[in-house]
Amino acid sequence: MNYEQLAKQFWEQGYLIFENFFEDEIMDQFNQQILDYFGESPEFFHNEEFLEKAKTEVIPWFPQWEGVKEFDYFDNHEHLVGLTKAILGEGWEALYSMVMFSKSGTKGQSWHQDCPPEDPKLFNINRLSYTMDVTEDIGGYTLVVPKSHKAGVLPASEENDTFYEDQVVIKPRKGTLVLLHGHAWHRVEPVIGKYRISTNCRAIPAGVPKDVTDICVYPNMRYSFKTNEVIEDRLANA
Ligand SMILES: [Fe+2]
Repeated sequence: MNYEQLAKQFWEQGYLIFENFFEDEIMDQFNQQILDYFGESPEFFHNEEFLEKAKTEVIPWFPQWEGVKEFDYFDNHEHLVGLTKAILGEGWEALYSMVMFSKSGTKGQSWHQDCPPEDPKLFNINRLSYTMDVTEDIGGYTLVVPKSHKAGVLPASEENDTFYEDQVVIKPRKGTLVLLHGHAWHRVEPVIGKYRISTNCRAIPAGVPKDVTDICVYPNMRYSFKTNEVIEDRLANA
């Protein structure tokens, strides 16, 4: 695996997709462990205002915060570490693994940026692994606008699912790894099958604060996950 070449491609496009990056057997084990934790119909964690305004319905779990050691697997994965270092440089840091569970009939995620793009040095990357096939029957494909990590702030809009001419639809299978720049515009389509699971091991370059993703940019607002409130209504002056 040519880490440097791939890192160059990441910085051009804002994302990378690797199929069969992880072994099926290991993904099966993780998927079962995640299902055991959630059951199939868990309750939402976010407050009502967030769910309504962000059109985002995802239930997170931070297994490493609870001492669940299995998820250290991603921190120790040779190629994942090699790629991350090539992209972020010396001194990068893994944040934590966040499992994202979407139940049937949920909206997925609105277009968003994980953190404000005004300062190009302040960013996270998402390292998304998929422990199950995300198929047409399940829904929940991941959409990204190539090169949008360099395009500044996501356009303000009442719509959460604006069609962008050059948007790319990512159809992850079991074992797929997606690397995605936190400033890239991305969203997740509604989930129509039983459930959808993805696991995100976020990482940051040296010098970026650990709470860089506390403020997320949506088409209609900026939202603080630290204080659980809308900090900017982007439609107010539109
Ligand atoms: Fe995101």
